[in-house]
Amino acid sequence: MKIAVVGTGYVGLVTATCLAELGHAVIGLDKDRSKIVTIRSGRAPFYEPGLDDLLAANLKKGTLRFTDDEAEAIRASEVIFVCVGTPPQEDGSADMSQIEEVARTIAANLNGYKLVVEKSTVPVKTSAWIKKVMTAFKKSEHPFDVASNPEFLREGSGVEDFMNPDRVMIGVETERARDLLVRIYERFRDRVVISNIDTAELVKHASNSFLAMKISFINRIADLCERTDADVEMVARGMGLDDRIGKAFLKAGLGYGGSCFPKDVKALAKIGSELGVDMALFRMVDAINEDRIRVFVEKVRKAVWILKGKTVGVLGLAFKPETDDIREAPSIKVIDDLLKQGARLRLYDPKAADNMKGLFPEDGRAVTYVSDPYEAARGAHILLVVTEWDEIRRLDLAKVKALMVNPVLIDGRNVFDPAAVRALGFEYASIGRA
Ligand code: UDX
Repeated sequence: MKIAVVGTGYVGLVTATCLAELGHAVIGLDKDRSKIVTIRSGRAPFYEPGLDDLLAANLKKGTLRFTDDEAEAIRASEVIFVCVGTPPQEDGSADMSQIEEVARTIAANLNGYKLVVEKSTVPVKTSAWIKKVMTAFKKSEHPFDVASNPEFLREGSGVEDFMNPDRVMIGVETERARDLLVRIYERFRDRVVISNIDTAELVKHASNSFLAMKISFINRIADLCERTDADVEMVARGMGLDDRIGKAFLKAGLGYGGSCFPKDVKALAKIGSELGVDMALFRMVDAINEDRIRVFVEKVRKAVWILKGKTVGVLGLAFKPETDDIREAPSIKVIDDLLKQGARLRLYDPKAADNMKGLFPEDGRAVTYVSDPYEAARGAHILLVVTEWDEIRRLDLAKVKALMVNPVLIDGRNVFDPAAVRALGFEYASIGRA
């Protein structure tokens, strides 16, 4: 099948590469020429385990190529996956201008039947808009269909998630569109779920919001644990053993970040309200998540009192381990708050430091980036765990303690065993554990 994938961001590049791996002839399209140049050399412009190898292999096979020539890519393809960004706006709604632009470009290049598949996380009813825009801007009478095929890829395991999906949601309104998508995903036939378009669009937002709700739920339970003798890790374990609840996404901590959960919960709350549905549940999920920063910084303040002039080591900057992505990372708000209080920061992350330098440039005084986690501890009055990289879990805490001025450790991801850390002589606080 001849496929174009518009947008070579995280979703687009993983999708293009994996569709080629499934045996299709794929053209990846992006307006950003510098990205195309990097990708053509077999390297993803971001860190994602396993992606570079698969990309290079499929480029070599010739089943995958990349271009910035929109007209050529669209005209050469029967199916077009739209994977452009839908960033959040001030009011919580998603900015759909890139989707509209792609719809117009496809409409201007209709040289035969096209199936336009939206894969970006979009509000319910987006397909209807794409259809309207294409109808208004099309320059020929060739037929086209619009379909929804939401992605459920987690950063850090995107390739694995694409190649071993729990389900492949296909939202269609014609048989032609259904047959094409079923053929594209032939290898996952047993996991294909077919519905109308609104349903498929809503499955994506509802799934992400449900997972976000589990996280906010356990975080509020963690707050409750701190005011009792309960231990949130054990509460989560006890709850998770019930199959109806499940143990995933019950890890208490600094809350969720990334390009999906914060945006999707806000967007779903907004759409629901516009449609006249009471979305208080979703607004609360978001509010609890926002409040995680206050809870964490409060622990820091309680441990060292005045932050002005004190050195704080920060372990982990990415929104979660195994990615260099800092979008909506809790670390950003933590850093911002600590800097406002006059702290001097020593920041460490194995992959995300360069991205963070764009937001908080190194100045040698308040902001210093270090390339080794132990260096973050050197001379520090307090050390914070913000992202639970394996490397951070495995730190030699005796060595860490020897480097610090004052052995205070605040663990925002519950990676360490409180008794063991305290036995080493640390003052230690974590989340939801007495
Ligand atoms: C998510 C969805 O999982 C994926 O299906 C969707 O397509 C895109 O959004 P991603 O944003 O890559 O993927 O990260 P995920 O692994 O789901 O974690 C999201 C956030 O929740 C991270 O900040 C993580 O640290 C946090 N989290 C996750 C918790 O705080 N506790 C948990 O128990 C699980």
